[in-house]
Amino acid sequence: MELDWGTGSYEETGVQLLPVSEVVVELAKPLAGRKVLDVGCGTGNAALLAAAEGAEVTAVDPAARLLEVAGERAAQRGLQVEFLSGDAGGLPVGDGTADVVLSVFAVIFAPEPEKAIAELARVTAEDGRIILTAWPPGGPLTEIAVTAGKFMAQVFGQPDGDQATFGWHDPDALRAAFAPHGFEVEVERRELVVNHRSPEAFVEQSSSHPMAVAGANALAQRPDGAELAQELEARLLAVARAANEDANAFRVTNPYAVVTARRA
Ligand SMILES: C[S@@+](CC[C@H](N)C(=O)[O-])C[C@H]1O[C@@H](n2cnc3c(N)ncnc32)[C@H](O)[C@@H]1O
Repeated sequence: MELDWGTGSYEETGVQLLPVSEVVVELAKPLAGRKVLDVGCGTGNAALLAAAEGAEVTAVDPAARLLEVAGERAAQRGLQVEFLSGDAGGLPVGDGTADVVLSVFAVIFAPEPEKAIAELARVTAEDGRIILTAWPPGGPLTEIAVTAGKFMAQVFGQPDGDQATFGWHDPDALRAAFAPHGFEVEVERRELVVNHRSPEAFVEQSSSHPMAVAGANALAQRPDGAELAQELEARLLAVARAANEDANAFRVTNPYAVVTARRA
């Protein structure tokens, strides 16, 4: 079953990821009067920044609760954004309607990447651009997510899925996937720094992330769920402590890929 990102609390993670939307919107400028589509808008980070630049913004997400939060944030700032319920695999907008398509750590979760890429290409205007971000393997945040994913797979006797994942950060995989749609791709590496009070506080915050809440609910169905949850927390704390760059608090530096696709 697909994760509902409205589960638990994505909000604090959204604040930590905001600098990435700032980078993406900066790269997308000038935006005044241009049509922007934010795919997987979450709490509206990129959509709101683009609207503040004078873009005509449509923002799509499958998570109803996050669309509500994003809508409230837009209203508080007096920004006009059209929020639509939808999925990257079937975007609720017409062909060639977006001058700029943005997707900050969102389309990467589409269960059928080829279908999502076809949709991104379909909705992009003839001279438009797609800018998306993805996590490469190996960064501390990715390590934490992978550790949790492997633990859950082990507990529930499932394959951990490492091999099957599409390389949204990988220039070769992206070029091969976008080429049939007539798009060329550039990939740039950037870094996101995430700070917190301590590794413990960061792991505590992470426990309310939608993925963690879904995992905790699954573990709670088992008779040994409490011990398993403790074991998982200990493993995540070990990864967070090992990655920590600040002896007096918590800081991790995460590489990410900024992918720009346009018609060749
Ligand atoms: C890590 S959050 C990023 C949210 C936002 N872009 C940001 O930068 O804060 C991932 C988002 O992708 C959305 N998402 C998950 N699967 C999706 C799909 N198949 N199509 C579109 N969005 C999806 C989630 O609902 C969630 O809002």
